[in-house]
Amino acid sequence: MSNQANLTIGDQAFPLNVIVGTEDEHALDISTLRKDSKFITYDDGYGNTGSCESSITFIDGDKGILRYRGFDISELAEKSNFLESCLLLFNGELPTTSAIENFKLQVSSMSALPADVESMIESMPSTTHPMGILGAALQALGGSFPKLSTNTRPADVESFDEAAALILGAIPSIAAKHYRSSRNESIPSRRGNHNYCENFLHMMFGNEDGQSIDPAVSNALDLIFLLHADHEQNCSTSTCRMIASGGANAFASLAGAVSALWGPLHGGANMAVIKMLNEIHSAGDDGSQFIQSAKEGKSRLMGFGHRVYRNYDPRAKILKSACDQALTALGVESPILDIARNLERSALQDEYFIQRKLYPNVDFYSGIILQAMGFPTDMFTVLFAIGRAPGWLSHWKEIATHGKRIHRPRQIYQGSIHRPYIELGNR
Ligand code: SDX
Repeated sequence: MSNQANLTIGDQAFPLNVIVGTEDEHALDISTLRKDSKFITYDDGYGNTGSCESSITFIDGDKGILRYRGFDISELAEKSNFLESCLLLFNGELPTTSAIENFKLQVSSMSALPADVESMIESMPSTTHPMGILGAALQALGGSFPKLSTNTRPADVESFDEAAALILGAIPSIAAKHYRSSRNESIPSRRGNHNYCENFLHMMFGNEDGQSIDPAVSNALDLIFLLHADHEQNCSTSTCRMIASGGANAFASLAGAVSALWGPLHGGANMAVIKMLNEIHSAGDDGSQFIQSAKEGKSRLMGFGHRVYRNYDPRAKILKSACDQALTALGVESPILDIARNLERSALQDEYFIQRKLYPNVDFYSGIILQAMGFPTDMFTVLFAIGRAPGWLSHWKEIATHGKRIHRPRQIYQGSIHRPYIELGNR
C-alpha cells in the first residue's frame, strides 16, 4: 500500500500521508486537513480516531491479542508478576533481578501514608465512594510531596521513578485505610516478609497476630493486577494523557484517570457484573430471562462487549480459569459463578451477541474472584485502579517525554446561530 492517500472534496484533492505502525496498523495523518481544506473529521466516541502514536501496549481486537511492550499477556500472566510488569511498562524492557529487587524495596518503603493523607481520608464525608476517596487521596499524596508534583518539566520527568514507586506503594494503603476507617478499625502493623499483594491483603483483612496469607489468594490478586496493568487508549488512560498533555503532574493526571475509570461502562463494570449476577440469582433466574431482556435492549449484559475486542478478551479467558482455581483454593461455592457460566454459554451461542461480536471482557470474571476474596463490591473498581496505575503512569511518562502538543479536539457546532440580546422585559 502506498504511503499516501488522497481525499477528494468537490473538485479538490487533498493528499494525506499514511502512517504505518510496527504491527502494520494504518492511519491517515489528518494533522493539516483543517488548514488545507477547512474541513475537520467527526468521529463520535473516537472509535476510528488515533489520538497518538504509542509504544506501550498493542491490542488486536479481532484476534483477541494484548501485548505489553511486545510481550503477550498470556505469557506474562504465566511467567511474570505485577511489579515486574510495572517496570516493563515504565521502561520498555523486562527488568533485571537487581532492578526488580530495588523496585520492590522502594515501593514497600513508600507504602506508609503521610499523616496528612491519612487525616484527609478520615475527614472525607462517610458516604464518599472508595473511588472518590482514591482520587482525592492521590491529589493529597502529590501535595505531600511537592518536589514530585511541580507541574514543571523536566523536573516531574526526572522524578518519575520516585513518584511512580510512591504511587504504587501508596494506593493499596489508601484503599485499606479507607476500608478500615469506615469500620472504625486500624490497619495492623506491617509484616516485613510480605510481598506487594500479601501486604495489601494483610492491611485489608489481617490482624496483629498476622496469620499467614494463602498464596493462592495473593497470587490470584497479583494476576488480576497484572491483567489490568494497561490497555492502550481506553477511556481512563486517554483521560490521563489528556491531563498530562497540559503539563500536569502524575498525581493530578492519575486522579483524573480514577474519575474516568469510575463510570459503569468502564471500570465500574466489575461492580455492575456482581450486582447483575446477584439480581439474577435473587430473581430465581438461571440467566435465560436476563439474556432475553438484554436482547430486547431493556438491560445490558455487564462484563460483555468491548469497543475494541470483537473476539474473546484474552484477559477474560485467563481470569475464567483463575476463577475456578481461586474459588477451589478458597473453598468457596459461588452460585453466581454458575449463573455467570450459564450467561456466557447462552450468549456465545445467541445470534444477538454473535452478530454484535459481544464476548466476555475483563470485568466478567474479576468481580467473582474479588468477592470470594472478601473485598466489598464498592471496592472492586479501586482494585481495577491499583492494577491500572502502572499503565496510567507509563502513558503519563510517554506524553511527558515525547508528547508534542496539548490535546484539544475540535467540534461541529450545532447550537443557535448569532442573535441579538433580548432585554428582560421583552422575554
Ligand atoms: C472496560 O476500552 C477499554 O480498553 C476498556 C477496558 C480496559 O481495560 O480499560 O477493557 C475495561 O471498560 C471493559 C468494558 C466494561 N464495560 C462493560 O462490561 C459494560 C457493558 N458493555 C457495554 O456497555 C459496551 O459493550 C461497551 C461500553 C463496553 C462498548 O460499547 P460500544 O463499543 O460503544 O458499543 P455500543 O454501545 O455501540 O453497542 C453496539 C451494539 C448495541 O446494539 P445495537 O444498537 O447495535 O442494536 O451492541 C449492543 C448495543 O446495545 N451492546 C450490548 C452490550 N454491549 C453492546 N448489548 C447487551 N449487553 C452488552 N453488554
